[in-house]
Amino acid sequence: MTAPRHFLDIDALSAGQLRALLHMGAAAKKAWRQPGAQTRLDGAILAMVFEKPSMRTRVSFEVAMHELGGGTIVLKDEEIGLGRREPLSDTARVLSRYVDAIMVRANAHSTVVDLAAHAGVPVINGLTDRSHPCQVMADLMTLAERKGDVSGCVVAWCGDCNNVATSWVHAAGRLGFEFRIAAPKSYGPDAQLMAWVEENGAAVHVVDEARDAVAGADCVVTDTWVSMGDKDGAQRRADLQPFQVNEELMARAGGDAIFLHCLPAHRGEEVSAAVIDGPQSAVFDEAENRLHAQKAILQWCLGENQTS
Ligand code: CP
Ligand code: NVA
Repeated sequence: MTAPRHFLDIDALSAGQLRALLHMGAAAKKAWRQPGAQTRLDGAILAMVFEKPSMRTRVSFEVAMHELGGGTIVLKDEEIGLGRREPLSDTARVLSRYVDAIMVRANAHSTVVDLAAHAGVPVINGLTDRSHPCQVMADLMTLAERKGDVSGCVVAWCGDCNNVATSWVHAAGRLGFEFRIAAPKSYGPDAQLMAWVEENGAAVHVVDEARDAVAGADCVVTDTWVSMGDKDGAQRRADLQPFQVNEELMARAGGDAIFLHCLPAHRGEEVSAAVIDGPQSAVFDEAENRLHAQKAILQWCLGENQTS
């Protein structure tokens, strides 16, 4: 029996594999709602486990599976009790007898890694405290749509260097674009991530001021200052205020720079309404691209292009 092909993190894939996935996502988008669109995962069932809330991830995976000819089962934390009702290894082995793939949104990254270690079917990371690779595949697809090849791009991240930022760092290392991070010291990349940057020769630069990060950038990205599971909301809002993406900051980026945000967004906090609802914002294309990027991930995990 061959080992299942998991999608746990962007750093686990090669540049060639990532490019193939982006290509497959673009093809899925082109074929979307066209007559005769292929249902390539006929009869396949995806279990979706959520330890945290979700709208985009749940709906985009459900629609993706439906449009590919398969189905989904949603398991919320109170039902499945990951690691509480039984050992994670038993959950992984039993689910693998029923379904063809498992998507997990987990509190702890180790939960996704442990499930994958014991599952006989592919496991997909639908967000952990460490990373959000499905999101960043959609972000890369959006960047490529607007800018062509992402390799020559400069992407600026302003604010908390969180799970989404970590997946951006991995993408920068693999695909060779420059990624600048502006964050207060205690919200910057941790030592483990910076060690990865060093080992992989990634063009990731950490700066103190948001205006230095965005100077001439092709893309400005931010995310909530208070991620799911963060407890010190008031302190975070105070500490991160100087990193808000507003019109003044966007004016320092390249003239045709785009703005990305994984959503949900908080207007007046990490981003001003004028920016997220303005002409440079690509956030709704980005949200739509979750659907197309995840069709590619599902097909990649479940059988297509297994040699790439
Ligand atoms: N961006 C994202 O993952 O959104 P949800 O939390 O709504 O799934
Ligand atoms: N960083 C955010 C992303 C939400 C999609 C969080 O983890 O809550």
